[in-house]
Amino acid sequence: MGQERGQSRRSRHRRRGIKPLFWLVGLPLLLLIGLAGLYAFNRPASSPGILTEAEEAFLARHWQQPLPPQGPPPPNFSPLEASLAPASCGTCHPQQYQDWQTSIHSQSMGPGVWGQVIDMIESDPASAQVCWSCHTPLAEQQNVLLVTSPQGEATFRPNPAFDAALQQQGLVCAACHVRKHQRFGPPRRTTPAVTGRINGNLPHGGFMAETAFTKSAFCRGCHQFGADGFALNGKLLENTYQEWQQSSYPDQGIACQDCHMPERRHLWRGIHDPEMVKRGVTITVDVPEKRYKKGETLEAIITVANTGVGHYFPTYVTPKVFVRGHLLTSEGTVLPETAQEAIIGREVTLDLSQELYDTRIPPGESSSFAYRQTLPRDRLQLRVEVVVAPDHFYTRFFAATLNDGGGGKGRSLLVKALENARRSPFTIYVQTIPLYVP
Ligand code: HEC
Ligand code: HEC
Ligand code: HEC
Ligand code: HEC
Ligand code: HEC
Repeated sequence: MGQERGQSRRSRHRRRGIKPLFWLVGLPLLLLIGLAGLYAFNRPASSPGILTEAEEAFLARHWQQPLPPQGPPPPNFSPLEASLAPASCGTCHPQQYQDWQTSIHSQSMGPGVWGQVIDMIESDPASAQVCWSCHTPLAEQQNVLLVTSPQGEATFRPNPAFDAALQQQGLVCAACHVRKHQRFGPPRRTTPAVTGRINGNLPHGGFMAETAFTKSAFCRGCHQFGADGFALNGKLLENTYQEWQQSSYPDQGIACQDCHMPERRHLWRGIHDPEMVKRGVTITVDVPEKRYKKGETLEAIITVANTGVGHYFPTYVTPKVFVRGHLLTSEGTVLPETAQEAIIGREVTLDLSQELYDTRIPPGESSSFAYRQTLPRDRLQLRVEVVVAPDHFYTRFFAATLNDGGGGKGRSLLVKALENARRSPFTIYVQTIPLYVP
């Protein structure tokens, strides 16, 4: 299928049968923007894209690489307060714990990651440490630590504070909230927001209220490569924060948290969640209104607009979105030879040496795909489907690793990861349009 892109396309044709679907896709989106707007209204008026010096300094301290061990807990802490386990936090913060358990952050040491890291711990600990820095950033979650001898020689040594169970729990509460056993969090949701140390008599000695928690930059360390990070075709492999910065969302006061943690809920829904993806895009199909007969050419325009994603749709190289069209008879028999497909995504080779194409849709823009087909008979229908494959790259990557006999100690985990990745695609849009008067 051919593709064109534009800020907005004026429709040349009357739209058929899209109204109910517009509401299905459009209404939750309006609600989302409405909520985000309301919520932003209750926040400090500053743009979430602009950081104070104090916020930048806090983030630099908070997200040191690697994070130092917590050290011994204060003597007055109960075992519950001293524990870094998410379930311990959950006894007093049940809502955050329940939400977090359903999130992808809690699965960031799943079989696809651990299946690769397990082999690196001995053979290539420096690479394992790179993976840990985003997937399990607490020192307590890492088997080995880089230790510098008095002679200035740095070697990886077994980590005395290592907690294997905490490692398997992925991106845990403490990774974002606890340093040296001190809790850090956003200011309470009261106006005016009070920052600084809050009430030492609360459990775990109260907490430090930091406005940086409400800013997009809080997420930057793991969702944005640095300027000198790995790039292909002149574009960083991970660029989500910059994509957001270049959109209109910072000016509207809408941060990552407004969409991914609505009402401060710890959900982080993204490309793996059908409802989240539907809220982010508006899909329309234009079919010129006329009498269709055998031998004539149908030209339908399918438009996918990024109306609610705060960055490119999709932001990473790993997902793919398939826009598909085919004809079927009035009885529903599919004509496979009429199938056409266009792909939204950034395609890179498995060894990450080359970018093959980049058709991702920036915030506020849209892409149109033309389905052109000479009709092989009378009384046909057009079916349009949009299918999201969130783990498209990983499916091929795991399959290739296993086919080469690779995987080592992690091989059975990678088999499991491949099964999961193969099960992940879902349909966000399907519409059947008769090309005849029924
Ligand atoms: C014994 C109960 C208890 C345990 C266990 C506990 N907390 Fe808390 N936590 C509290 C209470 C009570 C507050 C104060 C809430 C308030 O008054 O705003 C609090 C406040 C916080 C805040 C600040 C909230 C804000 O408004 O910014 C964060 C963040 C936090 N806890 C994280 C954690 C984490 C992470 C853990 C586990 C490592 C944990 N807590 C374990 C009881 C607990
Ligand atoms: C310490 C690193 C780290 C921080 C900080 C972090 N993330 Fe993540 N995030 C990850 C990792 C790693 C994954 C992927 C986990 C996996 O699938 O194994 C992820 C996944 C996600 C996903 C799910 C993507 C999908 O595929 O569906 C969303 C959404 C997300 N993060 C949003 C955020 C937001 C918003 C913030 C800031 C409030 C944030 N993250 C902070 C590391 C981080
Ligand atoms: C800069 C942060 C960062 C680093 C470093 C990083 N990842 Fe990730 N990883 C992410 C994010 C964000 C995602 C989710 C988006 C995606 O799927 O691309 C992810 C997703 C994944 C996934 C797919 C989801 C899953 O759980 O199966 C695998 C596998 C993975 N990473 C493995 C690794 C390995 C192995 C390393 C080290 C060589 C590594 N990552 C280093 C941030 C990071
Ligand atoms: C990826 C980082 C991350 C992880 C993991 C994480 N949080 Fe949070 N948490 C945040 C951010 C960011 C906010 C502030 C969100 C905002 O301002 O919109 C927050 C807010 C909070 C608050 C204040 C909520 C309120 O309503 O004021 C508490 C309490 C809290 N988190 C506890 C937890 C607990 C318990 C866990 C684990 C079950 C956890 N967090 C996991 C980043 C994280
Ligand atoms: C206006 C709402 C909005 C804002 C703001 C926003 N996102 Fe998203 N995000 C979405 C939607 C909707 C999706 C699902 C569609 C998709 O994956 O592109 C998504 C998907 C994701 C994913 C899944 C991976 C992928 O390839 O798409 C990650 C990771 C993510 N967002 C992180 C972030 C971070 C980090 C920020 C802030 C720098 C942010 N988002 C800001 C709405 C938003």
